[in-house]
Amino acid sequence: MQLHLSSWPEIEAYLATSKAILIPIGSTEQHGPNGLLGTDALCPEIIARRAGDEAGILVGPTFNVGQAQHHMAFPGTITLRPSTMIAAMLDWSQSLTRHGFERIYWLNGHGGNIATITAAFSEMYHGVTFGEPGSNRPPLRCMLRNWWELGGVMDLCRQLFPVGEGSHATPSEVSVTYFGYPEAQKRVEMTPKIAPNGPIYDAEDYRRRFPDGRIGSDPSQASVEAGGKIVAAAVRAVIGEFRSFAAS
Ligand code: NI
Repeated sequence: MQLHLSSWPEIEAYLATSKAILIPIGSTEQHGPNGLLGTDALCPEIIARRAGDEAGILVGPTFNVGQAQHHMAFPGTITLRPSTMIAAMLDWSQSLTRHGFERIYWLNGHGGNIATITAAFSEMYHGVTFGEPGSNRPPLRCMLRNWWELGGVMDLCRQLFPVGEGSHATPSEVSVTYFGYPEAQKRVEMTPKIAPNGPIYDAEDYRRRFPDGRIGSDPSQASVEAGGKIVAAAVRAVIGEFRSFAAS
């Protein structure tokens, strides 16, 4: 069930049965020569929508631009400053709690978002902690899960891609997007086959160290078939975890 494809009476009816919602959250940033700019937003969205269809979970709109400052030397990348992202996440959560939602499960697709998402949770809880005494507002609870850390997913990715998984523009994440959007596949020869590893600083330095955008990976191994396997494992895990969180 997707919020933006529902009517308000449907959301009102859903709220009578559950106070929990899943929000995919990611980034719009370069993902190497054959990876889609939307990869980090598309991966959690693809997984969430399938989980929503299978288990009746309400899935909100994707928060699809995040912390991508160090990718700004590559065209197409869009970034938010941390304060903007925190403010926007706060507005999203306050809108949802206004309607009665009490549990927001954020399914994240971008490692660079983690620190800011955690800071945003503190901003959200600030309103609850320092709200008017006696207002008896139900406590909002948020949960952050990176999709690649869902139970069983990382092991499966290592089995599928024992060499060249790397840490940015990985064959696993590119496979998930190819599974979701097979028409957007790109075949590109990678030179070198496996990209270099190293530290991340700011945008220009990043492009000097990692000229085609990849870090440690060989995403030319990506396939629709592998993506289907990863998505199936992630959907299973997210349904179980969302249900226990909703009941917490
Ligand atoms: Ni990514």
